[in-house]
Amino acid sequence: MTADFGHSVLPSPLSVPVLRLGVAGNYGLAAADIPHAADRGANYWVWTPNFKKVTPGLREVLAARREAHVVAMLGVAYTAAMVRRGVEKALRMLGTDYLDVYQLSWLGRGSSFGKGIQEALLSLRHEGKVRALGCSIHDRQRAGALARDSILDLLMIRYNAAHPGAEQDVFPHLGHRNPAVVAYTATSWRQLLRPLGIRMPPWPGPVDDGPAPPPLTPSLCYRFCLSSPHVHVVLTGPKDRAQLDANLDALAAGPLSAEEDAWVRMYGKAVRAKRRLPFA
Ligand SMILES: NC(=O)c1ccc[n+]([C@@H]2O[C@H](COP(=O)([O-])OP(=O)(O)OC[C@H]3O[C@@H](n4cnc5c(N)ncnc54)[C@H](OP(=O)(O)O)[C@@H]3O)[C@@H](O)[C@H]2O)c1
Repeated sequence: MTADFGHSVLPSPLSVPVLRLGVAGNYGLAAADIPHAADRGANYWVWTPNFKKVTPGLREVLAARREAHVVAMLGVAYTAAMVRRGVEKALRMLGTDYLDVYQLSWLGRGSSFGKGIQEALLSLRHEGKVRALGCSIHDRQRAGALARDSILDLLMIRYNAAHPGAEQDVFPHLGHRNPAVVAYTATSWRQLLRPLGIRMPPWPGPVDDGPAPPPLTPSLCYRFCLSSPHVHVVLTGPKDRAQLDANLDALAAGPLSAEEDAWVRMYGKAVRAKRRLPFA
C-alpha cells in the first residue's frame, strides 16, 4: 500500500501521492509554517474553517500548486443544507474550486449520516466540488462496517499505541473497498508523552536525544502508527515550528523494529490500564 515509509498513494478517487504525515494547523502553527511544511514535502492538510490562523498559509500553497495538495475538510453537519453551506464556505475561504475530501466530523455524535446528508455528499462529489467523501469517527465497530459498505472513500480513525483496536475492528475490513485510512490521536491526547511512573524493561532501540523511554517521544508515537501498512496518513498537530520540524524529521527514522514495536505496545497497554479515557 505505501510507496515507502514516508509516502503513500491515496486510493481512488483521490489517487494522489502524499507525505504520510498530515499536518493539523489548529494547535498553534502560524500561517508561515504551512509553506514551510510544504517545502519539506508535506501535502496532506486537515482543515476546518475554524483553523483561521493557518488559512492564509494554506491558500498560498494551494494557489501555487493546487493539484499537488490534499485538503481534507472536517465539517460538522446535521442536515444536507449544512453540508453544502460548509463546502461552499470552505471553497471561498481557501480560494479553490474543489476540496479533495469532505469529512463529516465525529460521525454519529457530531454529525449525522442520514439519507439526505448522503445525497448531498454524492451531489457535491458529482459536481466536482468535493473529490472524495470521508468522516472522522470514534466508534471503531461502525468504522469497520463503513469500510466494508458505504459511500465513504476515507476514514479518519483513532489509532495509537494505547488504542490499537483498529487492528481488529477496522483494518480487516479494508480489503472489501480499499478506503483511505487516516490515523489521529497518535500521542493519545499527549498521554503517551507524559511521565506516568510506569516501570518498563530497558528500551530496546537507539536513543536520539534526551533520556530513553518511557515515556514515548513524539517521534515514536507517529512512527508506531506509520509502521502499519494499513494507514495511509498519520495526522500530527504540532504546537509550533520546532515541533513540526521534529515530527517531519521522524519520517527519516523509518518503521519501528520488531523489538521496539513490542515494547511500545507493552507501554501503550500499561498507559491505557492506568489512564482510562472516555473513548477507550
Ligand atoms: N484528539 C481527538 O479526539 C480529535 C478528534 C477529532 C479531530 N481531531 C483533530 O485531529 C488533528 C490531530 O490531532 P491529534 O490529537 O491527533 O494530535 P497529536 O499530534 O496526537 O497531538 C498534538 C500534541 O502533541 C504534542 N506534540 C506534538 N509534537 C510534539 C513534539 N515534537 N514535541 C513535544 N510535544 C509534541 C503537542 O502537545 P503540547 O501542546 O502539550 O506541546 C501537540 O499539541 C487536530 O486537527 C485535531 O483537532 C482530534
